[in-house]
Amino acid sequence: MTLHTAQGIRFYDHEPATEDFLGAVLAGLRRRPRSIPPKFFYDAEGSRLFDRICETPEYYPTRTEMQIMRRHAADIARHLGDECLLVEPGSGSSEKVRLLLEALRPHAYLPMDISRDHLLAAAKRLADEYPWLEIHAACVDFTHPLALPYHPDGVRAVAFFPGSSIGNFEPGDAVRFLGNIRRMVGEGGGLLIGVDLKKDPVLLESAYNDAAGVTAAFNLNLLHRINRELEADFDAGAFRHEARYDADRGRVEMHLVSECAQAVTVAGERFDFAPGESIHTENSYKYRVEEFQALAEQAGFRPEAVWTDAAGLFSVHYLAA
Ligand code: AVI
Repeated sequence: MTLHTAQGIRFYDHEPATEDFLGAVLAGLRRRPRSIPPKFFYDAEGSRLFDRICETPEYYPTRTEMQIMRRHAADIARHLGDECLLVEPGSGSSEKVRLLLEALRPHAYLPMDISRDHLLAAAKRLADEYPWLEIHAACVDFTHPLALPYHPDGVRAVAFFPGSSIGNFEPGDAVRFLGNIRRMVGEGGGLLIGVDLKKDPVLLESAYNDAAGVTAAFNLNLLHRINRELEADFDAGAFRHEARYDADRGRVEMHLVSECAQAVTVAGERFDFAPGESIHTENSYKYRVEEFQALAEQAGFRPEAVWTDAAGLFSVHYLAA
């Protein structure tokens, strides 16, 4: 671990191992049904497309979560308590935390992200905008169990995990991840987390099938990324984006469906696709408030408060460790 100081930001570099993209793609294309984990969506182009998804009229989660946080910032801050250590796993550009900082005035903010450049750029912007804020940035892979690199005695650690990213975990993995967070914040800590709610399937499906085709481009970018990085020859024009809600499983599934019989080569290995055969690229689980609270309890959290919007689209939970 290296410790740098720049612009008053303390930086902890845990040098996370790079993901085995090739191994994951080959394993995912060999298995049936075929699937590739959604974490591989987020190269620079995928991250840019995701930001655009959040601005489409159909994709309500980002907007709604921000409305909830803006509206209830004072109450949320009261639950998190004075002078907490606010920890954000997967902090990315640290945008949503801005909605909390003034009301919360935390002891310090500790963003964690696997992308060193993204993390440092975001921390520097935040340091400029909030000169009073103490920032400890940690470059880590937050999906593995973590110890906090900075946690002064007597300061309550509260994790912040917005955006319903928890919905992209399988429920069993979600419990394991929440358990890791629970251990990371320790006794007396907490978790503020955004969770997308179950709702009319028409609304759900349109959120993942926006009319401008941004979600389709985001999904298909995975094939372009494989071509760019892995010596592959996917014809992205011969695959179509599909997103559908599976009510029994309570999840939106995204697929890339082959439009015809075709062969694709990845790093010298040939894969044959039948017409209609798909690569499953993402699940986005939706929860009722009580369902999510039960999941959190399995991970050792006690549900303390929940805020939702008037239309019941989205929820923000405060869980005590
Ligand atoms: C990041 N995650 C919570 C998004 C979701 O809604 O599951 C990813 C996404 N996929 C398609 N649109 C947005």
